[in-house]
Order: sequence, then structure tokens, then C-alpha cells
Amino acid sequence: MTVHIGAKQGDIAETVLLPGDPYRARWAAETFLDDARLVNEVRGMLGFTGTWKGHPVTIHGTGMGMPSLSIYVNELIRDYGARTLIRIGSCGGMQDHVGIRDIVVAMSCTSISTPSRGILRELQYAPTANWPLLRAAVLAAERRDRPVHVGNIYSSDVFYDERPDLNEQMERHGVLAVEMEAAELYTLAARHKARALAVLTVSDHLKTGEALPSDKRERSFGEMVEISLEAAFA
Ligand code: HPA
Repeated sequence: MTVHIGAKQGDIAETVLLPGDPYRARWAAETFLDDARLVNEVRGMLGFTGTWKGHPVTIHGTGMGMPSLSIYVNELIRDYGARTLIRIGSCGGMQDHVGIRDIVVAMSCTSISTPSRGILRELQYAPTANWPLLRAAVLAAERRDRPVHVGNIYSSDVFYDERPDLNEQMERHGVLAVEMEAAELYTLAARHKARALAVLTVSDHLKTGEALPSDKRERSFGEMVEISLEAAFA
């Protein structure tokens, strides 16, 4: 047990999928894993372990934002030995060609601040995905014949962001989409020699104001789970 995870040693698989929402963790585990069992429920942050095609897999919530993700990912890697960590979540589109429901695979992450800033200090560190995972996820997404975008995303620490011009600068510099977790996941994975990736679906668009209707969200989420599992064991 750790401060935030009640699982016993051996209860967490080396491969961990990380949705932000703990109820999504439950849905994904019940839908895609065999013999899924609850391994954590401290503070309502649900984690499940089961198997996919015989491979042990844990699906664990992270909560929203990098400080929350940092707690779970630190404990999953350092205390439970997680080695492959894939965030599955939503993002806001920032480019005209990035449409609602498209898949975004984050090659790199831009940020203003992350929980690792205290260590990195003045370094403009570039959090980067694990290449074999990235390649396998893109191939898995392409097999589905769905639009997939690969590139830089923005990991924000403010959802209701009132900073002027920020989105304009992101757009000018080719940033595909905004979310709130991946930069710290990639940084922690690098620091602890683990593999990390973020597979995202565009749930809303910052320029057009469009949003994915709730009945379509589950299907998109399921696709991300399948893409991530295929990538993890490619
Ligand atoms: N901002 C930040 N995170 C998000 C967004 C957004 O617009 N959409 C989905 N995750």
C-alpha cells in the first residue's frame, strides 16, 4: 500500500492505462479486460487489474490535472513497478484541421509549468512520447481508418484559461490540442526509465466551440482503450 493506492504488491500490472476519470477506469476494465478486479478505491480513485489477451493490465484513474496525475504515476512507477503507462483521455482541438472525434497521439508536450518544474528549473525540457509505443498506436489508429493526428500538444494547468493570446500562439506554432496531464506523465516516465504515451480524442474545439455529444464519448473512449492495448503489446 502507498499513501494513495491501496493495492497490494503484485496487484498492479507492468502495463497501466490511465484515464482521468475513475468511472471510465471501471467501464474500460469491465468492457475490455478478463477477470478484472478492483485493486484500489482510496479517495474514490478506482484502479482495476485484469488481463487482455492473456497480458496483465491495470486501468487506473489519475484525476484531472498534472498535480493529481503526478501522485498516482509516481506511486505506480516507484512503488508498484509500472513500466508502460498510457494516458487515455480527451483534448480540445486547436487547429482547423483537427476535428471533433479525431484521435490525437501526443509526440511531445508544450507546457508553462508542470510539477517537475522545481527539478528542471530553467531547462526548457521537451516531454516526449516513447517511440515504439507511439508508432504502434498510430498504426493501430490507422487500421481503424479514422483521422489520426500526431504531434505536439499543450498540457495546461488551467482549464478556464483567461491568459490573452495564449491559444493564438499555440495555434501559430502548430500545437494540435490542449489537455492537462501528458507533459508530467512523459517527464516522470523519462525520469524513471519507463515508457509513456498519451492517446486522446478531440472532445471539443477551442476555435469552433463544437463539442462531442455525450452518446459519442463512450465509443471514442473505447477506441482509445483498444488502440492503447494494441500499442502496449505490439
Ligand atoms: N482544455 C483543457 N483540457 C481539455 C480540454 C480543454 O479545452 N478539452 C478536453 N480536455
